[in-house]
Amino acid sequence: ANGGAKDGQGRNIVEKMDESGKDCVVFYGSQTGTAEDYASRLAKEASSRFGLKSMTADLEEFDFDTLDTFPENKVAIFVMATYGEGEPTDNAVEFYEFIGSEEPTFSEGTPAAEGPLSKLNYVAFGLGNNTYEHYNAMVRKVDEYLSKLGAKRIGEAGEGDDGAGTMEEDFLAWKEPMWTALQEALNLEEREAVYEPVFEVTEKDDMDATNDLVYLGEPNRNHLENKQKGPYNAGNPYIAPIAESSELFTDKTRNCLHMEIDISGSNLSYTTGDHIAVWPTNSGKEVNRFLHILGLADKKDTVITVRGLDTTAKLPFPSPTTYDAVVRYHMEISAPVSRQFVASLSQFAPSEDIKAELTKIGSDKEYFQQKVSSKNLNLAQFMQIMSGDKPWSSVPFSLFIEGLHKLQPRYYSISSSSKVQPKKISITAIVESIEKPGAPHVVKGVTTNYLLALKQKQHGDPKPDPHGLDYAITGPRNKYDGVHVPVHVRHSNFKLPSNPETPVIMVGPGTGVAPFRGFVQERAALAKSGEKVGKTLLFFGCRNAKEDFLYKSEWEQYKADLGDNFELITAFSREGPKKVYVQHRLKENGKEVDELLQKKANFYVCGDAANMAREVNTILAEIVAKNRGLDQAKAEDVVKAMRTSNQYQEDVWS
Ligand code: 2AM
Repeated sequence: ANGGAKDGQGRNIVEKMDESGKDCVVFYGSQTGTAEDYASRLAKEASSRFGLKSMTADLEEFDFDTLDTFPENKVAIFVMATYGEGEPTDNAVEFYEFIGSEEPTFSEGTPAAEGPLSKLNYVAFGLGNNTYEHYNAMVRKVDEYLSKLGAKRIGEAGEGDDGAGTMEEDFLAWKEPMWTALQEALNLEEREAVYEPVFEVTEKDDMDATNDLVYLGEPNRNHLENKQKGPYNAGNPYIAPIAESSELFTDKTRNCLHMEIDISGSNLSYTTGDHIAVWPTNSGKEVNRFLHILGLADKKDTVITVRGLDTTAKLPFPSPTTYDAVVRYHMEISAPVSRQFVASLSQFAPSEDIKAELTKIGSDKEYFQQKVSSKNLNLAQFMQIMSGDKPWSSVPFSLFIEGLHKLQPRYYSISSSSKVQPKKISITAIVESIEKPGAPHVVKGVTTNYLLALKQKQHGDPKPDPHGLDYAITGPRNKYDGVHVPVHVRHSNFKLPSNPETPVIMVGPGTGVAPFRGFVQERAALAKSGEKVGKTLLFFGCRNAKEDFLYKSEWEQYKADLGDNFELITAFSREGPKKVYVQHRLKENGKEVDELLQKKANFYVCGDAANMAREVNTILAEIVAKNRGLDQAKAEDVVKAMRTSNQYQEDVWS
């Protein structure tokens, strides 16, 4: 391997840094953009606090055979997300294979005795999820490979845990000692942090928002010119018509949506078990709040251009655009406020008192928890409280472009079978409000509420928008006739066995049942067409049979096609005095479950990662232990082996 060297220009990172005068590069291996955001934050901090000229770099865009010539007075930071079952993110595959290969070939050819990378100083931080077995495998492996090649790690290799919900605090706790170590290694002076913008925002008086060149939420030029074309992917959504939408149930606080997304006008395809990505829009309510507190309410439709201040800055959205479009379509404005962002805001506080308060909140974890986290505040709400709702007119807009997360597509497990409806994708999603006990604010799910608004528009519901969220569903992202939604498809490894006679056991409480509706739909269709289909056992759980029993009547139809080979076992958690969950039912049916597993049944779990999926894993080991006369440790090994061989598959979220 040669580090994936391609003919293209500018793939030599050492040259690139040299040309642009950089001394710090922050590489990211990112799938959904989170690692990329952390990389940007590290690059900014390296420059604002330590005066390092910094850049971020997508691992996919560079070759790595020149890392052996990386200067000793510079530093490379690796921010690596672990994806799925301990895999590299798509953009990190080549890098990972190169440095992990038996003997990677570097440009100098004759390695120093201490190893080819003995001049390279590096820092490493990983993003992982401890509910998965291969927790933070990427950063651990990359760290191991780099040090084996002689590179010198600075500070500890950090590990952030999304599973425990502590990513942000893990990151903050890791980076301080790392900066201290880096200061020592590169002999750097810390200075009072000064904000150094990466982007320049300019208001254009000679253009207005009706100009054809102005982006109003379109993700790229093709969309702007109204000629969308594939391939459709994470950088280019298909604006799909919504063929049907309905509510599976509605109660006081929750709505559950079923939608049929028509992909027949595109070359998109999917297979049962894949995910559909929905590109969200922020609610008008939150967009207006945000623009108001920034003092931009009157300028919301002012055309702006955004420009990177050096050649390595990558624009996060197309320009020219408007303040409103940036906030509505590209910024994660409804997320909880981060402590680091509060700290970076302090220098622009509208008064000395507020500045002191922000500094305190930004530097004190406990105080932050008390003043911000526990109240469930988003950024604009927090700023409103701090200033008594007076606009903060002195904060540069670029601070938000750089410091807030990019609004990312949200992924849903497809709830239809591609064999039954190859050009129509079903979504099953619950529209929930996130409440915290004692917190004054209720967080409304951005994307599911947007989908609900689309459904209400499609049906001309008599009382739409009960929460006054005011979604813009006639904007450019929906500018075609009727009701549309921007989507793409992500392929997954969560798959039915290729032989339909293989039995399957599925565990999916709540909307975790989504992919299993697709699975059962597919097996029912196969049975109907005369194929032999093996045992199809589904464990489903919900609050009670009358309230939130998803697809209740459909299961009966599938039963008609599959006969006794289909069995639905339900757990209603709020019907009796004691909670009954899917894992309790699994245990009661342990004997049958084990027999099926011995017959090589596939075992699937979908839904909540933090508690449910973990408890199911534990129960399964107990079942194996009991029925095969093994001790618990041996049984756990059996379950682990089932995961490794893909007999046990998960599609879980936190
Ligand atoms: P509960 O809300 O009554 O506690 C779908 O959300 C179903 O999953 C509900 O019946 C819910 O029950 C249940 N559930 C909650 N926590 C669970 C857990 N740890 N394991 C399995 N099911 C759970």
